[in-house]
Amino acid sequence: MFFRRCVKLLFMEPFLSAQPGIFRKILGKIVLIPKIKSLLERIFQFYADYHASRNEIWGMFEQGKEGWIIDIRESFSEHDAAALKGIVDKVLKENMIAVEIGSWKGMSTAILARKVKDYNGKVFAIDHWLGSEGVDQHGVARKTDIFSVFRRNISMLGLANVVKPLVMDSLAASAIFADSTVDIVFIDGDHRYAGFKKDIEAWWPKLKEGGIICGHDCEGYYMDYPEEVKRKIDVSLGDDYIPETCHPGVVKALYEYFDKDFEIMPDSVVWYLIKEGQLRRIGP
Ligand SMILES: C[S@@+](CC[C@H](N)C(=O)[O-])C[C@H]1O[C@@H](n2cnc3c(N)ncnc32)[C@H](O)[C@@H]1O
Repeated sequence: MFFRRCVKLLFMEPFLSAQPGIFRKILGKIVLIPKIKSLLERIFQFYADYHASRNEIWGMFEQGKEGWIIDIRESFSEHDAAALKGIVDKVLKENMIAVEIGSWKGMSTAILARKVKDYNGKVFAIDHWLGSEGVDQHGVARKTDIFSVFRRNISMLGLANVVKPLVMDSLAASAIFADSTVDIVFIDGDHRYAGFKKDIEAWWPKLKEGGIICGHDCEGYYMDYPEEVKRKIDVSLGDDYIPETCHPGVVKALYEYFDKDFEIMPDSVVWYLIKEGQLRRIGP
């Protein structure tokens, strides 16, 4: 009986989240055993918090009136968005500097910028906007001006003052930044082993002590894959992706640089590592 009530509550979840005042009033009027009442209140609070947090980031992508803002959501899932938001929350500070490698139409840029905005910081969005080599879906960059789509999306979301696009190659851009000046680097550019490794090497020194390096598309820890998959990864390092398996270059390079010291956020392919203590230096 009690279990059935909980299940019903779960199904009422959209109502509970949307109508917090009403739910609290109803709960206040019902005579219940205090323990049950407090449990119901806690379940309700969990959903209310979850929705507030989800809407803070995901909600902004649903506000667009035209179709174009929807197509900002290409490779980034809702879980990835929540994961990136959670990571940025760890380094928020006044006048912070965030760097993104690989912005495409602006999805992850917007997630970073939405948080950084409240701290008067800046997000440097670095991309040549030519699309990634070896990624079929990026062929569209040869016919469409993706940089214009990016600018329109960022401006529509009210983030143009926070985001500074740098239309150039990632390595060339790294030369502009002094060492130990960046609070967070998010890498989502070239996913192939050689290119991804160069990005880590170029951007790691730019991070402040206590800063975060993070990125997209790490499906798992190399060491945890079965031998057969490890071999597949090893012979596919020049590829962007092994269908239904992983991004081999990202998985292998992260293992070589950081072993298992980095984290993959739950239910996502977003990874991160804090630069601190013995992890001040890296190397395979
Ligand atoms: C997977 S997309 C980025 C997706 C984006 N983060 C999002 O949230 O939608 C990869 C991007 O990296 C860019 N890119 C690939 N290699 C690059 C490089 N060496 N320098 C700069 N940008 C690069 C591509 O143009 C492409 O826009």
